[in-house]
Amino acid sequence: MKTALTLSGSIRKGSYNRVLQQHVGRKLAEAGVEIREIDLGDFPMPVFNEDFEPDRVPEAAGRLAELWRSHDIVFIASPEYNGGLSPLLVNTVTWLSRQRPSPFRHAVFGIGGVSSGKYGTIWGLSHLRESLTKVGTLVVPTLLGIGPAEEAFDANGNPVEPAIIRKVDQIVHELTHFSRG
Ligand SMILES: Cc1cc2nc3c(=O)[nH]c(=O)nc-3n(C[C@H](O)[C@H](O)[C@H](O)COP(=O)(O)O)c2cc1C
Repeated sequence: MKTALTLSGSIRKGSYNRVLQQHVGRKLAEAGVEIREIDLGDFPMPVFNEDFEPDRVPEAAGRLAELWRSHDIVFIASPEYNGGLSPLLVNTVTWLSRQRPSPFRHAVFGIGGVSSGKYGTIWGLSHLRESLTKVGTLVVPTLLGIGPAEEAFDANGNPVEPAIIRKVDQIVHELTHFSRG
């Protein structure tokens, strides 16, 4: 059985990206994948500074890196801040990029995002794809950008727009069929 780790780049109460994280997790579970949902709030890391290395690297960085290395699939739901990424996600990727062995070279990664704008995180996701690719990640091609957030999900946390429903199916298909070998 394949395993998947899901996370959100927003840890605020009522986060729409958390809703997306949970939805994609349910769809992966329906496809026969064993899911582990995590909350980045449980992995506290200070703002990265090279002065922390090597003696003051947060234990959460090693713990999270091990989770990324030990799952077949990682799905990241990413908010868009100012056309880029949330500080939380940038900080997380930065700390993990310093971990060895690399946490980016085992799993197949899917990225998606929800934002209040109608372009639905497309700029933020292109930053995330670029950054993950630079450190050796295999990111599946589907661009799962969703917005405006307030109209995107029903009361059960399922997307309402047919095009988004299709894209979720597409990313789940890619995540369960692509492999790094
Ligand atoms: C600092 C900041 C910058 C933002 N920049 C953007 C943006 O560039 N594009 C956008 O569509 N929404 C932007 N938003 C609105 C977010 O999309 C909205 O707050 C969204 O709900 C955040 O995701 P979350 O619900 O998972 O926390 C921004 C919000 C904040 C707080």
